[in-house]
Amino acid sequence: MSTFYGEKTSSIIIVLTCFACFLITPSHSRTCFSYDWDIYIYNGIQDSTIDAHVKSKDNDLGHHNLTYDLGYTFGFCENYFENTLFWGDFTHGSQFVNFHVFDKAVISFIGGSTEHTNNVFWLLKQDGYYLSKEYKPYDDPAWTFWGHWQ
Ligand SMILES: *[C@@H]1O[C@H](CO)[C@@H](O)[C@H](O)[C@H]1NC(C)=O
Repeated sequence: MSTFYGEKTSSIIIVLTCFACFLITPSHSRTCFSYDWDIYIYNGIQDSTIDAHVKSKDNDLGHHNLTYDLGYTFGFCENYFENTLFWGDFTHGSQFVNFHVFDKAVISFIGGSTEHTNNVFWLLKQDGYYLSKEYKPYDDPAWTFWGHWQ
C-alpha cells in the first residue's frame, strides 16, 4: 500500500501515513521512521531533452522533460520489510531504456542508513546510465556505469 502526495499535503498526514505504510513526497518534506530515500535523475547529455517516466506498482509519477543538467527528484520512506521497486522509462530521441531506479541492487550499491536521508543519483549519458552515492561532476569516476541505452 502506498500513496502519492502533492506538495500541499500537510505534514501531519505525511507523518501518520508514513507510520502506516510508505509514501512518496517531494524531497525533504517528510518524516520517516525507517529508511528515507531521495532519488535524483540527471540528464548529462548537452542540448538534449530526455523524457523520464518513473513508476512503481502503486504510483505513476508521470512524464518529465529533463534538459541538460536538470535533475528530477522524488523521495519516499521505506519500512524495513518492504520490497520497494521503482522503474523508469527514458526516451532520448530514438534511444530508449527502461531500468530500475530503485531496487535491491541499488540499495546494495548505495548502502542505507536510518540516521539520515539516503541519496541515489542517476546520470544519463550518451553511452548509458550511471549510478552514484554522491552528486559529482559528470566525468567523475564516482559515476558507476550501470547499463546501455537499449
Ligand atoms: C515535453 O516536451 C514535449 C516537446 O516540447 C512536449 O510535447 C511534452 O508535452 C512535454 N512533456 C511534459 C511532461 O512536459
